[in-house]
Amino acid sequence: MSKKIMILPGDGIGPEIIEQAVAVLKTVDEKFGLNLEFTEGLIGGASIDAHGEPLTDAELKNAGDCDAVLLGAVGGPKWDTLDRAIRPEKGLLKIRSGLGLYANLRPAILYPQLAGASSLKPEVVSGLDILIVRELTGGIYFGEPRGIKTLESGEKQGYNTYVYTESEIERIGRTAFEAAQKRGGKLCSVDKANVLEVTVLWREVMDRLAPEYPDVELSHMYVDNAAMQLVRAPKQFDVMVTGNMFGDILSDAAAMLTGSIGMLPSASMNETGFGLYEPCHGSAPDIAGQGIANPLATILSAAMMLRYSLDMGEAADAIEAAVSKVLDQGLRTADIYTDGCKKVSTAEMGAAVVAAF
Ligand code: NAI
Ligand code: MG
Repeated sequence: MSKKIMILPGDGIGPEIIEQAVAVLKTVDEKFGLNLEFTEGLIGGASIDAHGEPLTDAELKNAGDCDAVLLGAVGGPKWDTLDRAIRPEKGLLKIRSGLGLYANLRPAILYPQLAGASSLKPEVVSGLDILIVRELTGGIYFGEPRGIKTLESGEKQGYNTYVYTESEIERIGRTAFEAAQKRGGKLCSVDKANVLEVTVLWREVMDRLAPEYPDVELSHMYVDNAAMQLVRAPKQFDVMVTGNMFGDILSDAAAMLTGSIGMLPSASMNETGFGLYEPCHGSAPDIAGQGIANPLATILSAAMMLRYSLDMGEAADAIEAAVSKVLDQGLRTADIYTDGCKKVSTAEMGAAVVAAF
């Protein structure tokens, strides 16, 4: 049976990097007999131009009917003056919430060839390969009540509510345990259980799940210590799982350990394993149309899609190996270029990955 992939190129460099990722997918499709089928849709500014809104209900349904979604990026100055409600980024929020994509997976891998691009010493980061699993549709970013009110004293007070239900914790926990099973078998749950009741419950639920995953070694860490450990000795981690806000902060910190945003893929999944895969970066309007964007984050997102949503781990490994090979060959787009390497365009980088299988 074929697997249907929805391609949403979006705006700016989106179409340029997506073109390379699709070429790579077609190559592994042929090589591994994956039987992939592609369908293309509109999101972001591209959809606003065509339909007057950043994601139509029909397109959302089309995406949900596929087995996985690969997205480029959305947004750009052309649409910046529009009302907030129909801005390109609203299309992203709509597809994430519309498809219940609560599990955000962000790997931080340092390719040894790019060790010089990290802000940390090579011995601290060389060989770094961690995965942060961030809860994406709950926690303090969504809790009610929220707002800014004026107290009787006349002073204003801002407030948000940090909430998680057991079922919300359990489903992100399962995602993380399963990811750890497929990787190094270590899971660190990050909380602030010494201060926040929500995370006392978080820790309780993680402990309750642990016996179901005897092949995973669960540990707990307070978030402040986790932040410190991430920059002190990041290689102690395999998979980290945490709530929305802690995950937002820790995943950005972890991302920078690896150097360039042009290298970082991500996945956002729901409980069925369905997922939306996209690079961590945006539409880069400053370099759009110049053919110089780094397509590797999108190509690596495609690899994640094969691994996590389509159960095609072998093909995913092959893509990651091909990416590593082109870096070995010294090929670099402008964002990761250093002296002595060969500067290549978006299309040349994509073609090199295709040739590296
Ligand atoms: P950005 O990630 O698009 O760009 C930040 C910087 O990184 C720019 O200098 C850009 O040239 C560079 N960069 C990004 N991706 C690159 C790549 N693949 N290769 C080489 N260089 C790359 O973030 P920015 O500038 O804040 O936002 C631009 C637009 O993208 C905005 O409209 C923003 O709302 C949107 N955006 C969309 C996201 C998404 O679609 N998931 C995420 C973040 C921003
Ligand atoms: Mg962030």
